[in-house]
Amino acid sequence: MSHRIAVIPGDGIGVEVVREASRLLTTLSEKRGLGLDLWQLDLGAERFLRDGTTMPPAVFEEIRATCSAVLLGAVGDPRVPSNQHAIDILFGFRFGLELYANIRPVRCLGERLSPLKHYGPGNIDFVVFRENTEGLYVNVGGQVRRGTVDEIAINEDINTRKGVERIIRAAFEYAKSHGRTKVHMADKSNAMRHAHELWLRVFREVAKEYPGIEAVHAYVDALAMFMVQDPSQLQVIVTCNLFGDILTDLGAALQGGLGMAGSANVHPGHTLALFEPVHGSAPPLAGKDVANPFASFLTVGLMMSHLGFEGLEALIEGTIRECIEARECTRDVGGTLGTRATSEAFHTRLLAKLG
Ligand code: NAD
Ligand code: IPM
Ligand code: MN
Repeated sequence: MSHRIAVIPGDGIGVEVVREASRLLTTLSEKRGLGLDLWQLDLGAERFLRDGTTMPPAVFEEIRATCSAVLLGAVGDPRVPSNQHAIDILFGFRFGLELYANIRPVRCLGERLSPLKHYGPGNIDFVVFRENTEGLYVNVGGQVRRGTVDEIAINEDINTRKGVERIIRAAFEYAKSHGRTKVHMADKSNAMRHAHELWLRVFREVAKEYPGIEAVHAYVDALAMFMVQDPSQLQVIVTCNLFGDILTDLGAALQGGLGMAGSANVHPGHTLALFEPVHGSAPPLAGKDVANPFASFLTVGLMMSHLGFEGLEALIEGTIRECIEARECTRDVGGTLGTRATSEAFHTRLLAKLG
């Protein structure tokens, strides 16, 4: 069986890290006979500025009909202040394919990378399940009396029973299938008494179906503190769209920065899914050969596991650990190499293992 992978480098450092992640996909495919067929797509700010194209409906449909996965670098460019292309591309996939689970592992891969005393690879290892199709991201709302002193700006927070239940269930199912024994749900039900009362009630209901898994409720402000004070108590966190966005940048800091955080956007049970590093296009770093490609490599690892290619995620992760240890890495994680040289060093080690 072959798999067609749509590859969208996008903007800024997305272009540089996806070039290396494409090399990794090609290497794995050739060495392990995975039958991956990469389809490079010219979408992003450059294309938008050139001809106004964001996400052509025909391309979206072709991806839906023929692809197993999408690899996205990052979208966002200061020359497009409306962020229209990014919204159409990123949210086009997340909402359009109903990829309701944004799975973001927080695992520290090197002693040196942890910013916390007493915490590192042995005890920073949890996964955030971020709701990915609802909440404040649906863009229901509007502006009234725009530009006047009486202006009103509204973004509604949309939480459906179905949407809340399925992401909470996905987190418990993940815990169950990955040998995890605890799920934290982070909300703000003490203040948001409609929307997050629903989260708390559904969390308690769904938890009853998983008697072997400890269900812990935490207000998100306290959970943010726990993440820094004692991340070892965390295994799986489930939360809403916006809180998940914020907590996973904080989580990235526990991994050594955004250059070390990968993510998967999935609809459990469906093959087609979107894979992207947690970081953005980092305009100040773009085009300088300094971006860390490891977040995109870890993202490829998540894709390999999702497609059922066992052992490759661990192989990628193990190789990154070795590179970090040997300081064959970019400056953000204590090395001296550029993006290309880091990828070269990684591939040299990987090829030695793949044979
Ligand atoms: P960012 O993640 O792009 O960068 C923040 C900082 O993190 C960078 O300045 C850099 O110091 C560090 N960093 C990020 N990735 C790195 C890497 N691979 N290697 C080394 N250091 C790295 O966040 P931002 O500056 O807030 O956003 C820039 C643009 O990216 C905005 O347009 C934003 O909307 C967009 N964005 C897109 C995505 C996405 O496409 N999924 C995600 C986040 C942000
Ligand atoms: C992320 C990003 C996006 C989000 C932005 C670019 C809209 O920060 O994937 O974490 O908020 O979801
Ligand atoms: Mn984010």
